[in-house]
Amino acid sequence: MSEKKSPPEHLLQRGSWGSKFAFVLAAAGSAIGLGNVWKFPYITGVYGGGAFVFVYLFSVLLVGLPLLIAEILLGKSAHRDPVGTFIVLSPKGKKYWQLVGWMGVVSGFVILSFYSVVAGWALSYVFRSIFEPFSGLPPEKIDHLFVELTSSPGIEIIWHFIFMFFTVGIVIGGVKKGLEKWSKILMPLLFGIILFLDLYAATTKGFVTGLTFLFKPDFTKLTPDAILQALGHSFFTLSLGMGAMITYGSYLKDEEDIVVPAVSVAVLDTLIALLAGMAIFPIVFTFGLKPSAGPGLVFRTLPVVFAKLHFGMVISFLFFTLLTFAALTSAISLLEVVVAFFVDELGWDRKIVTPVVGFLIFLLGVPSAIWDSFFDFVDWLSTNIFLPVGGFFIALFTAFVLEEKLKKIHFARYPEYLYRGWNFTVGWISPVLVAIMILNRFGILKLIFSSPFLRKLLGVE
Ligand code: TRP
Repeated sequence: MSEKKSPPEHLLQRGSWGSKFAFVLAAAGSAIGLGNVWKFPYITGVYGGGAFVFVYLFSVLLVGLPLLIAEILLGKSAHRDPVGTFIVLSPKGKKYWQLVGWMGVVSGFVILSFYSVVAGWALSYVFRSIFEPFSGLPPEKIDHLFVELTSSPGIEIIWHFIFMFFTVGIVIGGVKKGLEKWSKILMPLLFGIILFLDLYAATTKGFVTGLTFLFKPDFTKLTPDAILQALGHSFFTLSLGMGAMITYGSYLKDEEDIVVPAVSVAVLDTLIALLAGMAIFPIVFTFGLKPSAGPGLVFRTLPVVFAKLHFGMVISFLFFTLLTFAALTSAISLLEVVVAFFVDELGWDRKIVTPVVGFLIFLLGVPSAIWDSFFDFVDWLSTNIFLPVGGFFIALFTAFVLEEKLKKIHFARYPEYLYRGWNFTVGWISPVLVAIMILNRFGILKLIFSSPFLRKLLGVE
């Protein structure tokens, strides 16, 4: 580690999580969000189901989980924001590693801009559930409501603004306050309501078709783009590749364990995504809707059920409220990365930085609310390029640059082979998989393998 001057006053007052439980809660709160309930079902629908889900699960296990441990470890070792973490942990003269942290700040900025637009949709559905409930509406009408919403940018922008307003409000107070109390109650409730919808789905005639779609892989449907999407989504859903988990890990006390919390977060996050898919696809097939409906999928399918249920209005209100809350706990982690950078690195005042940055992110979200193609592009670029590339460098840094001594402390309570297995996966398996998936998407692998020189070398004709 580089020599440390005594840290400035504002870094000494950083504080830490109240308990081990608080960290798991916050990290799970960051991971579980629109990525699980909105994005996972929608991209699974677009990319054809089972085979896509298979690659996603594979990525979570071999790339996501090892990297989740790596990010938490980095943050906990440095007790700084992502940029500061790379500065503190890089050997002398290798300060360029901080660029990875910078990239994370940019990713956080961009991701939150469209994330908040979607959260705004969910928020608008909370209000619709009360004032214009879905009860009794036919599926076509429900479908139309979503189209109507997304073709009225003015309204979308207002909800997007309101959502950013709440996010800023919470981040100003510091992430650790208040949030813990609410997450403890609302996250299990979200879990509960998704289970309830699963039970309902199990009674529908499309249940088996839905589950088959979700879990039966047909690898002929797998395109290079689908593979990269699945990888990108494993980063997105676990909040990896841009330093969110570095930031949350940075508030951990030195003696805390990181392995069990990381595994718990990954398991919970994956479980919620699969359960959400298991609720949505049977409904899609029961009512003859399209699995490939795109970003509107959740909003076009679940209300069809809310329209039919006895207490549909209550369920609908609860569902969208909990979804909005889950989005809020994720949005906070995105904004926190950007804010922590200005506060920790530049010593700026959190109370001023937060609303200013929040407003700029709101502005960047406006074109996403207006043009679908802009939305799709920012989403695609940040999820499938920024996050995997960020994760690639975080992995290499952890495996090959960070001192072994610093890594081993965090595994002291576990057998040596666990440490070795993890270190190998982070250094070799994860980065190689990421590189292959990105190169494959851009046809570069094909190009390389079709080169006459290489073919001769490998003896293929
Ligand atoms: N993981 C969150 C979700 O699934 C979104 C999110 C929060 C995120 N923080 C992040 C995504 C950091 C990427 C990076 O909804």
